[in-house]
Amino acid sequence: MAKIRIGIVGVGNCAAGLVQAVQLLKESKPEAAKSEKHPEIGDYRVEDIEFASAFDVSSNKIGKQLGGAIYEAPNLLHWTDSVKDCYVEVIPSPVLDGVSDLVDEKVKPIRNVHSQEKLRQDIVEQLKQTQTEILVNYLPTGSQKATEFWAEVSIQAGCGMVNCIPVFIASEEKWAKRFSERNLPIVGDDVKGVIGATIVHRTMAQLCSDRGVNVDRTYQINVGGNTDFLNLKEAARLKFKKISKTEAVQNVIGERLAEDQIYVGPSDFIPYLGNTKIAFIRIEGTMFPGVPFNMETRLEVNDKANSAGIVVDAIRYCKVALDRHLGGPLVEASAWLMKHPPIPMTDHVAKKEAEKWLNNAHRELITV
Ligand SMILES: NC(=O)c1ccc[n+]([C@@H]2O[C@H](COP(=O)([O-])OP(=O)(O)OC[C@H]3O[C@@H](n4cnc5c(N)ncnc54)[C@H](O)[C@@H]3O)[C@@H](O)[C@H]2O)c1
Repeated sequence: MAKIRIGIVGVGNCAAGLVQAVQLLKESKPEAAKSEKHPEIGDYRVEDIEFASAFDVSSNKIGKQLGGAIYEAPNLLHWTDSVKDCYVEVIPSPVLDGVSDLVDEKVKPIRNVHSQEKLRQDIVEQLKQTQTEILVNYLPTGSQKATEFWAEVSIQAGCGMVNCIPVFIASEEKWAKRFSERNLPIVGDDVKGVIGATIVHRTMAQLCSDRGVNVDRTYQINVGGNTDFLNLKEAARLKFKKISKTEAVQNVIGERLAEDQIYVGPSDFIPYLGNTKIAFIRIEGTMFPGVPFNMETRLEVNDKANSAGIVVDAIRYCKVALDRHLGGPLVEASAWLMKHPPIPMTDHVAKKEAEKWLNNAHRELITV
């Protein structure tokens, strides 16, 4: 069975979740195997994911093997105590705008060891040497420059990309075109968790739309206790996260809500929650014959399980596209797996379209 050789950009909690999830499946842990709903995508199983390279800026992680670095502070994830076959060394990445002031003390970044250009050359060389096929971008939210650096590196090194974060690459025309021209696939942007706040909120909004009731106003408040949530306390880094999360709900709500009638945002950092995320979602509406109603959901979920369950699928879609020599944004898979895809679809339609794409080797990708 062919393997999928991936490179990790940002060895944080999401990366720790991915590495440990793959390990649990390799060990055939019954709970992990039972909860894997897509045992094969194309011909690929989750166990076929191999970690070929890894990059970070943290002095706690650089120089360590990935299998050890995923347990270093400020990571918090322990689904299994050790992982095997994860011997790649974590290599330095340029910091650029990756580390906010609020997390600087925890991440302890190593800055300016080499020039950006030297780092770029070393990284491209490393990706080629390690035969990395797909880069998985797990940089902190707000890392616009760093994500663009890695998108460029991906194109230069001939890698596909899974963009897990709300910096718009797959859904941004300029970048979509660059990936298309180089015939490299990209799935993005911003992971839509398995049972995350976005999919639950979309499902509630879709229900209203399907049942023919008006949504008048809605909010979604999220709290959590990991570095992702701490980073999001810096308002300037939130801009595209807010757009990504808000549009994901607006897209299925029926009649678009005025800006002051919808609030969707990561809202606070509560340290003791760790990787547990709690979301409070409320919809207020009007049903026939002009009678008001409201509904609320409280979701409590491991944020990193939410991410890992989607990323193992996104990686395999990307690999199938590589095998088929298809480049550019995978619009169907992105609509199914990501919050801010190039072409938004309802979740029901996106799932069907992604499966159709998978089952039809000769179908051309929709271009953006
Ligand atoms: N359910 C989810 O967890 C979910 C869903 C959607 C999107 N995301 C996004 O995924 C991303 C990763 O989340 P996380 O919880 O792993 O964050 P994290 O803070 O745990 O990890 C980020 C990692 O990136 C490293 N880093 C910082 N700047 C860097 C640079 N310039 N180059 C290389 N590495 C750098 C940090 O040292 C850290 O190891 C975030 O942007 C988050 O918003 C997560």
